[in-house]
Amino acid sequence: MENVIEIKNLIKQYKEVRAVDDLSFEVHSGEILGLLGPNGSGKSTTMNCILSLLNYSNGVIKIFGKEMKPDSYDLKSKIGVVFQDVAVFDELTVYENIDYFCGLYIKDKEERKKYVEDAINLVGLGDFKKFYPKKLSGGLLRRLNIACGIAHKPKLIFLDEPTVAVDPQSRNNILDGIKKLRSEGATIVYTTHYMEEVEILCDRVIIIDNGKIIASGTIDQLKKLAKIEEKVSVEVNNLDVQHMEKIKEQENVDEVTYDGNVLLVTYKEGKNNLVDIIDYLKKESIKYNKIYSERPTLNDVFLELTGKELRD
Ligand SMILES: Nc1ncnc2c1ncn2[C@@H]1O[C@H](COP(=O)(O)OP(=O)(O)OP(=O)(O)O)[C@@H](O)[C@H]1O
Ligand SMILES: [Mg+2]
Repeated sequence: MENVIEIKNLIKQYKEVRAVDDLSFEVHSGEILGLLGPNGSGKSTTMNCILSLLNYSNGVIKIFGKEMKPDSYDLKSKIGVVFQDVAVFDELTVYENIDYFCGLYIKDKEERKKYVEDAINLVGLGDFKKFYPKKLSGGLLRRLNIACGIAHKPKLIFLDEPTVAVDPQSRNNILDGIKKLRSEGATIVYTTHYMEEVEILCDRVIIIDNGKIIASGTIDQLKKLAKIEEKVSVEVNNLDVQHMEKIKEQENVDEVTYDGNVLLVTYKEGKNNLVDIIDYLKKESIKYNKIYSERPTLNDVFLELTGKELRD
């Protein structure tokens, strides 16, 4: 498997904070790699070090087999970056903004025109070409920010939390656009603290906390790290504590909690549990509304590994 990025022993020390603490990892050609971690875990700092936008205390970073340095312009022309903070020109329209950023790399006018149209279509801004950024909603502005970063069809793309505070429609549009970029052959590094997005989007995930890698692998590999295999939730009113104790004694049960009107039962193994609990509720004539089963989430994995929630 070809590595597009190779990072060895990356350390970034701010005065008191070690924002990146000895990270080593690779990014494979054609994959979407998720960098997942809570606020302040070091995602943006890692990305900015890889891009040589920040100097770092230790480490070697190679991109497309070459060492990445601040003046590696040949490498930089193959890279697209979408920063966490929107960075577009207020005095240029949607079209002019994308054309400007694309023009930094694509000099041929006809070719550039096509590239700009492709970027506009990818993020669905066709109806807003003549709009100025100030007239765009938050979601549309984020889409413009993405279009500016990827219009020159880079082989390697970094996206830093591109869906923060966007509406669901824009979020879906953005995630679909990123999948399309992968299908067109780009390699993508995607940082986020939304585990749901990582599950939808990423081929492989690196979970970081306090600047350190705490786990990495495919979603399925990571989920195996959770001590539970299934969670069953039951909406039920006024459940007696005795029932909770009895359920706890059932096969495979890990924990039983009852919060509000939701009974949550976690299981060490994911077989026949729903049938068992429905049988119990029937036998005891306990009325329930909704009942549903879920696999563990990456949050469960994070909780298992760090003792805290990924969510704030
Ligand atoms: N310029 C700086 N000077 C000092 N400390 C910094 C600086 N930039 C970041 N940090 C610290 O480094 C750590 C990592 O920050 P970073 O922005 O990389 O995290 P992040 O995972 O991107 O978080 P977020 O989800 O909030 O974007 C944090 O503790 C942060 O406070
Ligand atoms: Mg960040």
